Amino acid sequence: MLEALDTIKTTALSELKKTSDKETLRLWYSTHLSKNSPLIESLRNLSNVAPKDRPAIGKHANQIRNILEEAYKEQTHYLHKSTASTRQKHTDLDITLPGRSVNRGRLHIATQTLRRIYTIWADMGFQIYRSREIETDELNFELLNIPLHHPARDMWDTFHTNTPGVILRTHTSPGQIHAMRANAPDPIRVILPGMCYRYEQITARSEIQFNQVEGLAIGTNIRFTDLKGTLTDFARRMFGNSTRTRFRASHFPFTEPSAEMDVECFLCSGEGCRVCKKTGWLEILGCGMVHPAVLTNGGYEPNKYTGFAFGMGPERIAMLKYGIDDIRHFWGNDLRFLEQF
Ligand code: DAH
Repeated sequence: MLEALDTIKTTALSELKKTSDKETLRLWYSTHLSKNSPLIESLRNLSNVAPKDRPAIGKHANQIRNILEEAYKEQTHYLHKSTASTRQKHTDLDITLPGRSVNRGRLHIATQTLRRIYTIWADMGFQIYRSREIETDELNFELLNIPLHHPARDMWDTFHTNTPGVILRTHTSPGQIHAMRANAPDPIRVILPGMCYRYEQITARSEIQFNQVEGLAIGTNIRFTDLKGTLTDFARRMFGNSTRTRFRASHFPFTEPSAEMDVECFLCSGEGCRVCKKTGWLEILGCGMVHPAVLTNGGYEPNKYTGFAFGMGPERIAMLKYGIDDIRHFWGNDLRFLEQF
């Protein structure tokens, strides 16, 4: 019996050497290792062997089976490799040609601008906070000193949800209340970036979704000069060391006094061009001293604490910086646009 098994082994191995492709290999396997092959059958029929011989024969048959399986694997590998190299020889492939460059992805221009803004504010000691995109009317408006029916609500066309009082935030300003309530009465220096939504006609100048970066500093003795100095420092870091800024009086319900900051047009250096509409200045953000009512809503005593806040649009900044004349490009997913940055 043991000799019979050895013969099976020798024949099988010598036949394996002669296999030359997948097909002959498959045939070999079914002859020597499939369920009906003599080897496997002998294992299955061990019960017919005299009990005292069983262990030795079983062990021997199993060893041969392992040897054959191993040899089969090797032969498969060998054949596969040799077919691949033969195939290469028979094609016109010129392996000396330089490879095609891989199309690498990149960060979206809005993300790049956001990250630049984060870095600048982080360097100036501001922490980066996130607050939610789905807000309550209370946080988005009321606690920011914009009561129901206040005409200033016209500035923020709103997406409502099916739940009354729950809306998509129209600006990042409600983050101010979250940040204040989480920190009062400690001083705060944070920025709050994120997506905002407005129910507007989409045009070259307005989108229904866009990013904002809100900023908030609260403490004792914070004054309007701190606001001007800090924001001017930001503008210099963002647009270049010699950038000039100017502040124009404005109105926001959550700040008093309020202003808008312009930077000297960095495309024409103030000479007047198409982008700055010949004025030499570009508006980049709204700002002001936090309104006492808002401080109170955030948990700060307005007689003791003061602070400034600002809100800027990174897409708008990118548009100005790169002369992009249509905001719809940002979320249009056109690679011809995206690949330019
Ligand atoms: N939330 C304002 C807007 O969406 C921008 C803004 C203006 C934010 C003044 C501020 C601020 O924090 O002080 O138009």
